Amino acid sequence: MYQTLTFLHSIFRWLVLLSLLYAIFRSYKGYSSSRKFSKTDDSVRHWTATIAHIQLVLGIILYSQSPVIKYFWKNFTTAKESFDLLFFGLIHIFLMLFSIVTITVGSAMAKRKTMDKEKFKTILIWFTVALIIIFIAIPWPFSPLANRPYFR
Ligand code: HEM
Repeated sequence: MYQTLTFLHSIFRWLVLLSLLYAIFRSYKGYSSSRKFSKTDDSVRHWTATIAHIQLVLGIILYSQSPVIKYFWKNFTTAKESFDLLFFGLIHIFLMLFSIVTITVGSAMAKRKTMDKEKFKTILIWFTVALIIIFIAIPWPFSPLANRPYFR
């Protein structure tokens, strides 16, 4: 169960990143060329937020199953001294929750805008902020914060 969840959560990061990059790319193009906000633009907005929400659910389930997290909360006083444990116990979840809220708010605000240019601008700003935070909070093999492989 734990291994499957880690695998899914690890692989899903690529979907989260690709969908965000694609949504940002489309909104940048749309904004700078002042084109119409199409049905496709709207489904890209919708699916990007949905993919982030699926990753959130996977993350929450993984959080409840992970031996790393169990160890962290059982031995909080000593465990918080280890940055790797602190990263997965608190920092990762906090930054990822914040970024998924940012995607959700941006997506909902874009939906409510009446002018097409405003829709593109809203997606561009909110999704870019979320992407930057997600990129920082992923435990890349090269990250100075915590390290996990590219693929499980
Ligand atoms: C966009 C959102 C997120 C992304 C891209 C993401 C990405 C990742 C990646 C790449 C790993 C390393 C997986 C591996 O070991 O190979 C990881 C680990 C982990 N993530 Fe996330 N995550 C996200 C959100 C969350 C959330 C919201 C939670 C909790 C509610 C969470 C909980 C965890 C936990 C507990 C681990 C470590 C599991 C362990 O080593 O036992 N993640 N995450």
